[in-house]
Amino acid sequence: MDYRIHFAPLQGYTDAVYREVHAAVFGGVTVYYTPFVRLEKDGFRNKELRDIAPGRNREVCPVPQLIAATPDEFRRIATLFREQGYRQADINMGCPFPMQARLHRGSGILPYKEEGEALLDTVNEFPDMTFSVKLRLGWDNADEALALLPCINSLPLAHVTLHPRLGIQQYKGNTDKESFFRFYGECKHPLFYNGDINSLEDIQRITEAYPLLKGVMLGRGLLSRPWLATEYVTGNEMPDSVKQAKLITFHEMLAERYGASLEGGEHQVLAKLKTLWDYLLPDAEKRLRKKVLKSNNLTTYRLAVKELLQQ
Ligand SMILES: Cc1cc2nc3c(=O)[nH]c(=O)nc-3n(C[C@H](O)[C@H](O)[C@H](O)COP(=O)(O)O)c2cc1C
Repeated sequence: MDYRIHFAPLQGYTDAVYREVHAAVFGGVTVYYTPFVRLEKDGFRNKELRDIAPGRNREVCPVPQLIAATPDEFRRIATLFREQGYRQADINMGCPFPMQARLHRGSGILPYKEEGEALLDTVNEFPDMTFSVKLRLGWDNADEALALLPCINSLPLAHVTLHPRLGIQQYKGNTDKESFFRFYGECKHPLFYNGDINSLEDIQRITEAYPLLKGVMLGRGLLSRPWLATEYVTGNEMPDSVKQAKLITFHEMLAERYGASLEGGEHQVLAKLKTLWDYLLPDAEKRLRKKVLKSNNLTTYRLAVKELLQQ
């Protein structure tokens, strides 16, 4: 079976540099998504424009993601994607960040069925593009996504990704497998499961529980264990020595490419590399993680990373 691993968009982490370096060093991912692009009062954010610019996405063509409350916002962002050469886009109806949700964006639109339908129907205005939808079960009620399902099923979507939590849960608390199962039973599009997949066993468990899935989308699990997708695809666990060598290469390439793309010099590159450790190798020794995070230049950072990896 052609089972796919998608890398979830993670604002602040899976930027263009990260996506390309991950693909070059670890791989195993079929589709990378950009973090969401939003429209603000005075237009687009430069950072978001840079992240989708074709020149920064030559090695890995990601699926750009939009977040919008209205058809008009949708049109403007989808038009931008089209102008940048993209023919595929993902619609974010899952983001729980209060700043977005209170504007009826992301999972904040889910309680408003008619607004959700109007937003989704906008895909029909872009017949030369294909769209996918990433959503949660609801904002505060797991019936909300189900209520949108007839509309979702009626549209020519490439696939749907469901994260079985409510917006009010943010990223914590139990996932609701029963509600996922109801959606899974009625969804006519290829469906991907997203949420709390951290190991090969987790992937296996999801695959067995929902055999009709087209694949899974991994987020924090892949930031923590960047080799997970490739292990799944090859069917082999990666030996520790290979992981270690790859993690060193991963850091070297990230440092080099962030160095070339960030304007703030070494200090900014170092700060960016340190954010990797928000998720990377959660089981690493605390003392060594601290050393990595305390390093104040790239040389000491590299040494601290090597020491940590050699444990
Ligand atoms: C820091 C952070 C940023 C995120 N940014 C986005 C985003 O830009 N677009 C989106 O659809 N989801 C975003 N998400 C949600 C993830 O894509 C994913 O759905 C969620 O983390 C659950 O999957 P996981 O348990 O595999 O991480 C974000 C999550 C986190 C923790």
